[in-house]
Amino acid sequence: MADIALEGISKKFGPNTALRGVDIDIKDGEFFVLLGQTGAGKTTTLRVIAGLEKPDTGRVMIEGQDATNWNAAERDVALVLQQYSLYPRLTVRGNLEFPLKSKTQNFTPEEINERVERAAETLQITRLLDRKVERLSGGEMQRVSIGRAIVRNPRVFLMDEPLSALDANLRDVLRVELKKLHHDLGATFVFVTHDQVEAMSMGDKIGVMNKGKLVQVGTPDEIYSKPLNTFVARSVGTPPMNLLDGKLEGDVAVIEAGGHRLPVNEPTAKDGQAVCFGIRPEDVVIAPDAPAKGRVFDVENHGVIKILTIEAGGEHIHATVSAQMKIGIDDPVNFGWKPEKVLFFDPQTGLNLGLS
Ligand SMILES: Nc1ncnc2c1ncn2[C@@H]1O[C@H](COP(=O)(O)OP(=O)(O)OP(=O)(O)O)[C@@H](O)[C@H]1O
Ligand SMILES: [Mg+2]
Repeated sequence: MADIALEGISKKFGPNTALRGVDIDIKDGEFFVLLGQTGAGKTTTLRVIAGLEKPDTGRVMIEGQDATNWNAAERDVALVLQQYSLYPRLTVRGNLEFPLKSKTQNFTPEEINERVERAAETLQITRLLDRKVERLSGGEMQRVSIGRAIVRNPRVFLMDEPLSALDANLRDVLRVELKKLHHDLGATFVFVTHDQVEAMSMGDKIGVMNKGKLVQVGTPDEIYSKPLNTFVARSVGTPPMNLLDGKLEGDVAVIEAGGHRLPVNEPTAKDGQAVCFGIRPEDVVIAPDAPAKGRVFDVENHGVIKILTIEAGGEHIHATVSAQMKIGIDDPVNFGWKPEKVLFFDPQTGLNLGLS
């Protein structure tokens, strides 16, 4: 069992506020992703969980016990960083053994050997065991870093952008392997990234952070289809959700730019209310009889799909369409949206009116 709970965690570094009242519940065995832009407070959150940073206010609970004053060793968590903190002059085996040979551990040489062999096998680096670390590729080094965490058999793995220094292909491979590792070990993972695709593809749960606050926690599906506000709406999805200012007239959305009138279903705003309408690019419909008129500003080919940028009334609207569609820059288009997919946000606060 390794549930983790952060309760009202705040942390300042001099004049900089890194965390503002963060509450998080992470369940035993969960793959929890913290997603946020640079400076959002992701690393600080991990370091607070690891016991490397003491919060100014709030409590860290591990397995229901108040661990706020426990040191890092007592917490039994392992941290994997973006930069591999390996000993370059040691072999892979030497690096993997290192955490097991510290004075606070009491492993026999047989136990050490067994753990190292098992970790190496899990990460498919057995053939590298006797190589010097300085001669490894980036991907191999990151496997060794992960291996160093595994040998200790911790109850929690904390990973701070472990894949971001790798090239795209290797990142894809290691993503899949990390998910498998999580599945095989059954341990709790807290994984930090600023890459929304990584967050969506890896997380059981995603916590979206902004400016030291946890904005929303949910499954990837909840974060994608029920964003709490326009910030979360923009944080996931490529291209991001279209956000169009306008107002509601009965069951018609009147878009400010261009005055397009588009139908909506079961509006969650009041008649006449100013609304920021949210629609995902895949829910924009291109059809000859669609109600709004525009012009194709750009076409990006992505293999199975194309991403259109439509210029309409001075606004750019993204639509994803089948790659088969014959359409080019400057072509006139008629567009609409799937009325049941439209989200309603408050233009002032950005809050999703359908959830409040
Ligand atoms: N040791 C420190 N001293 C001073 N300010 C700090 C320190 N650590 C973090 N901060 C500040 O706290 C805020 C949050 O930093 P943090 O490193 O947690 O962000 P992050 O989400 O991990 O960002 P990144 O994606 O760039 O790694 C930032 O404004 C940062 O400058
Ligand atoms: Mg960071």
